[in-house]
Amino acid sequence: MDKLEIIGGPTLSGQVRISGAKNAALPILMSSLLADGPVILENIPHLNDITTTVKLLRWIGAEITFHDGVQLEVDPSGISRFEAPYDLMKTMRASVLVLGPLLSRYGRADVSLPGGCAIGARPVNIHVAGLRSMGARVDIDNGYIRARAEKLHGARLILDTVTVTGTENLMMAAVLAKGESIIENAAREPEIEDLSEVLCKMGAVIEGAGTEKIRIQGVESLQGANHFVLPDRIESGTYLVAGAITGGRVRINQTRPEHLKVVLRKLCQAGAHIESGNNWVELDMRGQRPQAVDVITAPYPDFPTDMQAQFCALNSIACGKAKITEKIFENRFQHVPELQRLGADISIEGNTAVSCGADKLTGATVMATDLRASASLVLAGLAAEGTTIVDRIYHVDRGYECIEEKLAQLGAEIRRLSV
Ligand code: EPU
Repeated sequence: MDKLEIIGGPTLSGQVRISGAKNAALPILMSSLLADGPVILENIPHLNDITTTVKLLRWIGAEITFHDGVQLEVDPSGISRFEAPYDLMKTMRASVLVLGPLLSRYGRADVSLPGGCAIGARPVNIHVAGLRSMGARVDIDNGYIRARAEKLHGARLILDTVTVTGTENLMMAAVLAKGESIIENAAREPEIEDLSEVLCKMGAVIEGAGTEKIRIQGVESLQGANHFVLPDRIESGTYLVAGAITGGRVRINQTRPEHLKVVLRKLCQAGAHIESGNNWVELDMRGQRPQAVDVITAPYPDFPTDMQAQFCALNSIACGKAKITEKIFENRFQHVPELQRLGADISIEGNTAVSCGADKLTGATVMATDLRASASLVLAGLAAEGTTIVDRIYHVDRGYECIEEKLAQLGAEIRRLSV
């Protein structure tokens, strides 16, 4: 299992290019199952979760071709299986995004229940309830969601909780349903808008994606399309925190500053000087120790749960006390005991992590438990004195493209140890 070795201390400085967004690429890849012709995608990041999705699509019968390492083409014409097996689901919960497209396009889908997850229970009851309201028969049987429908019909779906993949699954089901569907209390993440953009290029009729009410008129069929996936706002935020935690100056390119508003506001509160343009952001924290900042996670456009762990790392060496409250997932503080191993003074009270910034962190061996937790350990390692080894970095590889190359480009002393 690979590890990352980080020798903390260097102040990061320079520029880094942000990759395509994992959480947009995953539903968009699944949406290609809805089309009658090839879907050509650019800016798909090289990540383990993408490899898993490609494996799943191929297993179902789609033909996937890579053109010059730049474009990925999905030809869905040979689909012959309608199942997402447990082996693929257990490594990536987002495989559940195959449910809506398979059901609405082919009338059937057998998708393994994803099971427990390190960050929380993460049920899929809202996905299932929405499909049932659209006329699907859905049984949970032998660990599988088994959904059938000759033809889904439009429905008014009021989601009990704001759910990102739930909204995406129901959108993908509704685009080929008969009649109009309205999704209320929909998630408003930029990734939902990106998915809607691709679906509309295929011929879907969708209004309101990015707001809490999405209106979809079902169409008979969808055609192939071309799309450039939007930049990853969580990767963007992570590199900005890397600049802040090391007292450096970091510019991120090919990003979308408008998707980072709350994160940038928090970094400013932490003392960073931020400038931004159309597709770049520069953070300058030179000569300063960050101020600790309070954070409460909530669905977009509020502070993202996927940036919570990185801010825990920042607060652990910042000046003063701060509270980070996690409101989306019930078990998303597994990085805290690992940060404590590096010398962080953090205690957990219910769903809040209370930190008192330490003057310094010191290197140690720590264990990654999930994707964003591992990013926080890498960040803390950059600021810690001495050597930090981050074990189980397959979690990092699920969501950060070439993390060690990108950080090294900014001046970090980091290398991958392949064991
Ligand atoms: N929920 C339910 N029932 C459902 C669905 C969700 O109760 O049927 C609850 C969840 O348990 C959670 C809340 O709703 O408490 C929100 O979960 P959501 O469904 O929005 O999460 P998700 O769609 O499974 C996506 C991202 C996550 C990100 C969350 C929240 C993808 C592929 N994953 O997950 O990304 O943390 O939204 O923003 O888009 C990551 O990239 O590290 C990651 C975990």
